[in-house]
Amino acid sequence: MAVRLDLNALLATAVGVDGLEAGEVAELEPRLSRVREDLAARRTAGTLAFADLPHRRDDVRRVLEAAADARTRFDSLVVLGIGGSALGIRAVTNAVGTGSGGLRVTVADSIDPESFGGLLGQLDLKRTLFNVISKSGETAETMAQFLIVRDRLLRELGAVDYKQHLIVTTDAKQGALRQIVNDEGFHSLPVPPAVGGRFSVLTPVGLFPAAAGGVDIDELIAGAASMDERSTLAESPLADPALVLAGALWRLATTHRKSIVVIMAYCDRLAATGDWFCQLWAESLGKSVDLSGAVVEWGQTPVRAVGPADQHSQLQLFVEGPRDKVVLFLRVEDHGTEIDVPPTYQDLESVGYLGGHTLGELLNAEQRATELSLVKRGRPNATLVLPALNAFTLGQMFYLFEMATVAVAALAGVDPFGQPGVEEGKRLTYALMGRPGVEASATEVEAWLARKDARYVV
Ligand code: PA5
Repeated sequence: MAVRLDLNALLATAVGVDGLEAGEVAELEPRLSRVREDLAARRTAGTLAFADLPHRRDDVRRVLEAAADARTRFDSLVVLGIGGSALGIRAVTNAVGTGSGGLRVTVADSIDPESFGGLLGQLDLKRTLFNVISKSGETAETMAQFLIVRDRLLRELGAVDYKQHLIVTTDAKQGALRQIVNDEGFHSLPVPPAVGGRFSVLTPVGLFPAAAGGVDIDELIAGAASMDERSTLAESPLADPALVLAGALWRLATTHRKSIVVIMAYCDRLAATGDWFCQLWAESLGKSVDLSGAVVEWGQTPVRAVGPADQHSQLQLFVEGPRDKVVLFLRVEDHGTEIDVPPTYQDLESVGYLGGHTLGELLNAEQRATELSLVKRGRPNATLVLPALNAFTLGQMFYLFEMATVAVAALAGVDPFGQPGVEEGKRLTYALMGRPGVEASATEVEAWLARKDARYVV
């Protein structure tokens, strides 16, 4: 059950000048071979830790034990986390989280008091387990949620029982949350030290909520491992789905000015995977400087779309608007569940033709039609085809996109790890919230507010 990447509609032979010429494809091969060697060397040196996750069995065993225990004691699991500590979990549970006997999993990555208060108000705390997830152990949103939940649990369940309702996923050694775990004795799971948030879906960050929700995480990991094996065995980098996707998107971004990549899923269960991809692509590749320190302000803006709803919304822009986009479709051949459209109103041509088909057929016909309508307007696009959506194919897709991300970073010469651009905002938030040690930022906030001209606040 291997996923397939169809790149035909990226080629100049299909879409004309906005597509890749044969010479450009040929030129990618030696470049991608160098990237391949570079990534292999980094794996050997241990600096590409996420890439080896499909082969780490210890964490999986611990996760399976903790999840089995949770399923006997609770009905609901609420994840408190944000960014890479939330989006992968939502991607997995939305895509394949319908396993029997699993907990109902909710990812609470909002601190909007209306949403979070509403969620807490609906929960039966006695039957709920909270999974606090933060690699750094100090993210303001997650820690605020944790403080609120801890307080409520303490008040409702008492000082002995409340601890049973919290399981913390954080760095094994460092951070405030690890210190709290050590001091208070909460159950905990480790985030491997060298794996960053957006690359952590195959660590206990993503695996515990998935397993608790009834997802077959062995299959998820087997899927990732099979994509890894496919890459290793590929005779040419152009036959490696991750590398060839990376090469094509990088080339389109750099010489064809495709500064936007639209990920358009024709499967509602993959909408959250689109969100996960957007974070991975945006935070990893949007960097101001290259590895030598030169200012490059590189990046390719990811946009999420869902078909066919967005055919009636954004597609007009994709087909006729600025030629700054490449579209990546996610197509599922077999949707699993089928619903027949009844053959009614056969005498009405504009309606009757639908009868006798299934909704899945209509969905896939619309994906094919959208692909061709883009081709006919010279708009490059590619399609990742999943024979079916299950844990195995999802694992392949996660691994493919993660490796493609680091490969694009290597081609663009930027560091895919770290997110220096978001640190300033964090410091300014701390200042606004009165955290000690950021007094200079507090002064900057005051100066900015003082500079505002009342005439431009209308
Ligand atoms: O990808 C990343 O590293 C970030 O998006 C983090 O996941 C996010 O900021 C949350 O961080 P943490 O897990 O430390 O709370």
